[in-house]
Amino acid sequence: MRRITIAIDGPAGAGKSTIAKYISQTLGITYLDTGAMYRAVALKAIREGVDTRDREKMALLVKNICIRIDFSEGEQRVFLDNEDVSEKIRSAQVSQGASDVATIPEVRLKMVELQRAIAKGKSVVMDGRDIGTYVLPDSEIKIFLTASLEERTRRRYMEQVSKGMDVSLDEVRKGIEYRDKNDSSRDFAPLAKARDAIEIDTTHMTVEEVARKIMGFIERFQ
Ligand code: CDP
Repeated sequence: MRRITIAIDGPAGAGKSTIAKYISQTLGITYLDTGAMYRAVALKAIREGVDTRDREKMALLVKNICIRIDFSEGEQRVFLDNEDVSEKIRSAQVSQGASDVATIPEVRLKMVELQRAIAKGKSVVMDGRDIGTYVLPDSEIKIFLTASLEERTRRRYMEQVSKGMDVSLDEVRKGIEYRDKNDSSRDFAPLAKARDAIEIDTTHMTVEEVARKIMGFIERFQ
């Protein structure tokens, strides 16, 4: 197989990570969940009592941060200053903090450098908000996944309940709305569909249907 990079962007709960994992397993290529990096930055800020919207303090904080992604056991693990934080970064507080730190250019530049280094010279499927527009603009396949706010809320709620998290539908909806607005309105690399991306509205589609559709595009490319 020749080298291929696949960019999957879209708002929270559209199904990006489920589909990206499927593609990575089917093609045997690396999957990078870029959101986990912004989450790790937010976790560090919260732990150190730094306001996640304070540009100056956040710029300083990311200067000395060590974020490492480990793929050795077939799944992505995220290390913050050598501690495995893969589960700790999934709380509602960290989700909101991630969306805040992601508006800060100094934070983004550092994360994007890491993301491009991981993609260098190999096949990857990467999911996020700005992969097709900014991180890997030359990706062979660009997908923009969407779904209605109600459906995305329902999916995220089910996912969190299944992990034993104590959340209400209303809280989940508010969290998603906050991030949608923040992510789409920031100046630097906002959540946006690349001009050459294929948009798929997954509101009424099963995971299998979405996966089949995207695999169809990939097979045509190869
Ligand atoms: O999985 P979910 O869609 O809930 O979020 P995520 O992909 O883990 O991303 C968490 C937050 O990081 C998002 O709300 C964005 O603000 C930010 N993010 C970003 O700005 N750019 C990316 N490439 C990935 C995530």
